[in-house]
Amino acid sequence: MGWLQDESILVTGGGSGLGLALVERFLQEGAQVSVLERVPEKVDALRQRFGDAVLAVQGDVTVYADNQRAVAAAVERFGKLDGFVGNAAIWDHGSSLLQLAPEALAQGFDELFAVNLKGYLLGAKAAAPALLESRGNMIFTLSNSAFYPGGGGPLYTASKHAAVGLIRQLAYELAPKVRVNGVGPCGMASDLRGPVSLGQGDLRIMDSRSPEAIASILPLQFFPQAADFTGPYVLLASRANNQVLSGVMIQADAGLGIRGIRHVAGGLEL
Ligand SMILES: NC(=O)c1ccc[n+]([C@@H]2O[C@H](COP(=O)([O-])OP(=O)(O)OC[C@H]3O[C@@H](n4cnc5c(N)ncnc54)[C@H](O)[C@@H]3O)[C@@H](O)[C@H]2O)c1
Repeated sequence: MGWLQDESILVTGGGSGLGLALVERFLQEGAQVSVLERVPEKVDALRQRFGDAVLAVQGDVTVYADNQRAVAAAVERFGKLDGFVGNAAIWDHGSSLLQLAPEALAQGFDELFAVNLKGYLLGAKAAAPALLESRGNMIFTLSNSAFYPGGGGPLYTASKHAAVGLIRQLAYELAPKVRVNGVGPCGMASDLRGPVSLGQGDLRIMDSRSPEAIASILPLQFFPQAADFTGPYVLLASRANNQVLSGVMIQADAGLGIRGIRHVAGGLEL
């Protein structure tokens, strides 16, 4: 028996990267898993790989009707919804205020915030009635960029900071019936792309970052895999392990926040 036995959980952006690792881990923990994913090839790959074990719905998190369709399909297939994981997002590849032309800044904002923030809000809106009924929970994927600058440009960093406010407000509004929490991972290899309006639609995160560069700034001094981040989600989604956490953000960033002024590892200066 896993920690999420028979819990019905919907993950947005479950077609690759962290979302896919969450699908795998939730299945291992006994959950019934649904996915809302924009890219048709990723939806097909989920269906081929998992068959009936995963309900894969093609759609866009920026469209309310798609979120609603995914929630309705999950409830129809599994009889209920216990967890909603808002996870689909895009990055800005660190594009800075000074680099971006004014039109690109405005268009990039609209495109990135539509996915990273409006997508979370619309997903929460669509999932809320079913979660109120099941006394379930929501979890939103944040980032080190929800807490610190430099992990992206102003668009991405502001979108993840905004998601912190969304989590706090929804935790407040939906208590006592629904717990709302967040997980903030650090850098990992994934299919994370950028806004089409910034010309970054085909640019992946590892095209502009290296594993060594990411590992070198983390006190725990390793380059995490997507699967390494799934534990906090299991904790937050588990009724047995989480009766008391709401409005909590787990910084799953290999110690980034305790980096300090000098680089030390195991008590020794590097
Ligand atoms: N990769 C990193 O270094 C990193 C670091 C910190 C936080 N994160 C966060 O992790 C989460 C997952 O990203 P990832 O790194 O696994 O990237 P990813 O691109 O591999 O996964 C995101 C998935 O969301 C899907 N998606 C994008 N836009 C969508 C839309 N409008 N509607 C539906 N689906 C959509 C993508 O097709 C993709 O399958 C994001 O919230 C991201 O901000 C990633």
